[in-house]
Amino acid sequence: MNQNVTLAVAKGGRILSAQLELLAKIGVEPLDDMKTSRKLIFDTNRENLQLVLLRGADVATYVEHGIADLGMTGKDSLLEHGEEGYYQPLDLKIGQCSIMVAGLRDEPPLPSRLKIATKYERTAKQFYAEKGIQVDVIKLYGAMELAPITGLAHRIVDIVETGNTLKANGLVTLEHITDISTQLIVNKVSMKMKHRKMQNMIDELSAVVGE
Ligand code: PRP
Repeated sequence: MNQNVTLAVAKGGRILSAQLELLAKIGVEPLDDMKTSRKLIFDTNRENLQLVLLRGADVATYVEHGIADLGMTGKDSLLEHGEEGYYQPLDLKIGQCSIMVAGLRDEPPLPSRLKIATKYERTAKQFYAEKGIQVDVIKLYGAMELAPITGLAHRIVDIVETGNTLKANGLVTLEHITDISTQLIVNKVSMKMKHRKMQNMIDELSAVVGE
């Protein structure tokens, strides 16, 4: 097995900056500006370490298939992907937010079977299944807040960080589903075959997490 190490990081303004700050704390700097470049693969100042830039929802797929040895992505994406196919050794304590149920501030009387709009289909289905409540989940890819306003759905399951987006759209949080933060994940074969390199990365990052 080649001993190069590939780390997948998740795209997105705030979260990419936070990941790059963590990497900078362990002395890793990409050779190009990941926020402005159109490239997807980046060499770093550390020999044999490259970064790949992915949608957060794709990080687990690349790590599970061993294309990336390590990955950084939100727990929300991991819950949707399924958490079996890789190790999850470290909470990076960035990108902290929650997945919540939200609805209109002035909610009209609702039917017994609710329509729930969400990007987090699996998480929403599991949450209601565990409560023994039957719902219809409507998959959306963004702007979830619009669904209760327009009547597409009664409620939404979405990420809440500051709560500003909900507030600006006349919505309120109703139930907390789970806390979310960015996790470090590791390919299972890499953990065996490149053990020292994987363990070093875990140790280095864990030393700077929460600084
Ligand atoms: C998330 C989420 C909300 C917003 C919540 O979207 O879907 O719209 O952030 O943040 P707030 O509580 O601080 O207002 P994000 O910006 O991640 O973009 P997305 O729609 O692509 O998921």
